[in-house]
Amino acid sequence: MTDVSLDARYRALHRLDSAANRLIRADIWPEGDDFGQQSFITPRYIDEIVRRSPIGAEDHVLDIGSGAGGPAVRLAETAGCRVTGIEPNEVGVEVARELARVAGLGERVRFDRGDARDLPYPDEAFDVAVSLNVLNVIEDKAGLLSEVRRALRPGGRLVLLTGTFRLDADDAETRRRLTRQDTVPLFDDTAEGYRELIERAGFAIDEVTEYIADFRRQIARWGEANRRHEGELAAEQGPEAAARHLDYFATYLRLVEEGRAANHLFLATAASGVTPDRG
Ligand SMILES: C[S@@+](CC[C@H](N)C(=O)[O-])C[C@H]1O[C@@H](n2cnc3c(N)ncnc32)[C@H](O)[C@@H]1O
Repeated sequence: MTDVSLDARYRALHRLDSAANRLIRADIWPEGDDFGQQSFITPRYIDEIVRRSPIGAEDHVLDIGSGAGGPAVRLAETAGCRVTGIEPNEVGVEVARELARVAGLGERVRFDRGDARDLPYPDEAFDVAVSLNVLNVIEDKAGLLSEVRRALRPGGRLVLLTGTFRLDADDAETRRRLTRQDTVPLFDDTAEGYRELIERAGFAIDEVTEYIADFRRQIARWGEANRRHEGELAAEQGPEAAARHLDYFATYLRLVEEGRAANHLFLATAASGVTPDRG
């Protein structure tokens, strides 16, 4: 069953073509780089993932937290693969289906409304599972990863991109600032923490890449664009929400500059016959 509170989150953000979002998005990316992503990724990430995983036409890819569908559509176009996106937010799923329709991808890309903590798919259904900047909103990461492991065939690949943080117990105020609109929670972890979680879920890590400069640039761009269009954003989402967005990007940028936040890409392989350890 879909968690109703999850659906309430991201509603306004996934309406990519609202007046404020259109202005903000046009400021963030150079022409052609906006493919409907709702995160700090750029076309470069999709290209690298396809090349390094690697993902090919024969693969069926699960996109966990597919958002407004841009990354799934871009993956299908770049790799020629099949993609199934799972996303709890109704607006996201609607926008995603429309993106896929306009891209003419037909049966190759589908979007299901659901919760990745309880995947509505049989065991070993997918060759690759991709998750792009989603894991920090999930509290039970071990549960989610073992569910993903179940849905992947042995030898299948996990492609996990996530923000990583080094926050202490006395960083409560920073955590509060990173909790967007009071609705999107933050369950942060370090790169080492993620590595352990992935291994415990029954994967062997193949590669880990840390993105710093690129990540800093994207966060700065999101922050600047939100600031420039704060008025339009406030008109759509209310002044408090607009101020919270600005605070969120400013806080995130500060952490990156202090060396306490980055974005990590983990590439891993589902080991055969391993029973995930959910401990
Ligand atoms: C920052 S957005 C990233 C969306 C997309 N991956 C992208 O890069 O454009 C995070 C997404 O995770 C989704 N999400 C949150 N909890 C989830 C869950 N339990 N299962 C699947 N997706 C979830 C949110 O609704 C949101 O669309």
